[in-house]
Amino acid sequence: TQTPVTVTVTGAGGQIGYALLFRIASGAMFGVHRPVRLKLLEIPTGLKSAEGAAMELQDCAFGALQSVEVTDDAAQGFDGTNLALLVGARPRGPGMERADLLTANGAIFGPQGQAINEGAADDVRVLVVGNPANTNALIASAHAPDVPAERFTAMTRLDHNRALAQLSLTLGVPAAAIDSVIIWGNHSASQVPDISHAMITAADGSRRRVTEALAEALGGSAKMEIWLAETFIPKVAKRGAEIIEVRGSSSAASAAAAAIDHVHDWFLGTGVGWTSAAVVSDGSYSVPRGLVSSFPVEGLDGSWVIRQGLEMAPAIRSRLEASVKELQEEREIVTSLGLLKR
Ligand code: NAI
Repeated sequence: TQTPVTVTVTGAGGQIGYALLFRIASGAMFGVHRPVRLKLLEIPTGLKSAEGAAMELQDCAFGALQSVEVTDDAAQGFDGTNLALLVGARPRGPGMERADLLTANGAIFGPQGQAINEGAADDVRVLVVGNPANTNALIASAHAPDVPAERFTAMTRLDHNRALAQLSLTLGVPAAAIDSVIIWGNHSASQVPDISHAMITAADGSRRRVTEALAEALGGSAKMEIWLAETFIPKVAKRGAEIIEVRGSSSAASAAAAAIDHVHDWFLGTGVGWTSAAVVSDGSYSVPRGLVSSFPVEGLDGSWVIRQGLEMAPAIRSRLEASVKELQEEREIVTSLGLLKR
């Protein structure tokens, strides 16, 4: 049998938590043979909901689930954890400015980063889902000086999967047949969905460029460029708002599925092409060092590398610059508020 993995989920009593916990416990993240120990971290008002989820987890009698623990104490919640999924965050309230939002989240992600630094397992990996995810990851990482910065990631996999879905619907091919889409930049409306390197694998194994198939389906490459700028990019970037409008509440199951995919690929490998994840920049693609920005990444065994050398069209480059500017502004605000200091 494989060594058990301890997974901490914050905000476990919330919507995403409810969709996420059962999939982790069922083996969707690490495979059905890897025993899982779950730790659910909530704030006092969310404890009952998390306790209810813990009871249901027991009632599923999952083969891989070894234990479930519920707590509102961060030290206990992160003690010995191998994987921290930071889902709980402070949403933007009415009239809240960006600085207020960052301050409120700094008060969550700073102490959680510190608790991870003090109590997590030596091999800990972190995925931040709670928004503003990129900058929350930056804050948590700054409070965990003993944990390498590459271990802190933020989720843009939902945006990546949304891009696959739109291509699949437009081209009439399965989403699973499409690879090498990229989400660049911030997980926000400024994100940059980029399909210029994307490929389709047909049933017979032959490979074809997505841009070629799109130009054919839409009546030429000029029409494709218009579709990309006016339909595809806004659709992907604003899909969250569309789901809220239609469903009446925010996307939870698809966010949970994306978190499963992110961690799965980080540990078990990305497969064909790459995926998208927000990771600490080493200066690749002119993204300033230290910013947590989304890149094309290849993962395996809990490590990732940024895919190098991809050509960027001028339009994509300038969109990325705008998204990076937003990330820099967020970093300036949290720096000036002292939120990166321990
Ligand atoms: P929710 O409001 O249903 O649940 C959030 C839970 O977090 C609540 O139960 C709350 O009690 C808990 N919480 C708040 N502060 C906490 C703390 N300090 N420690 C532990 N738990 C805490 O929200 P939902 O729908 O589950 O979304 C969670 C977050 O995920 C939001 O910030 C949302 O914006 C973000 N999100 C991110 C996506 C991405 O692609 N990166 C996609 C969808 C949502």
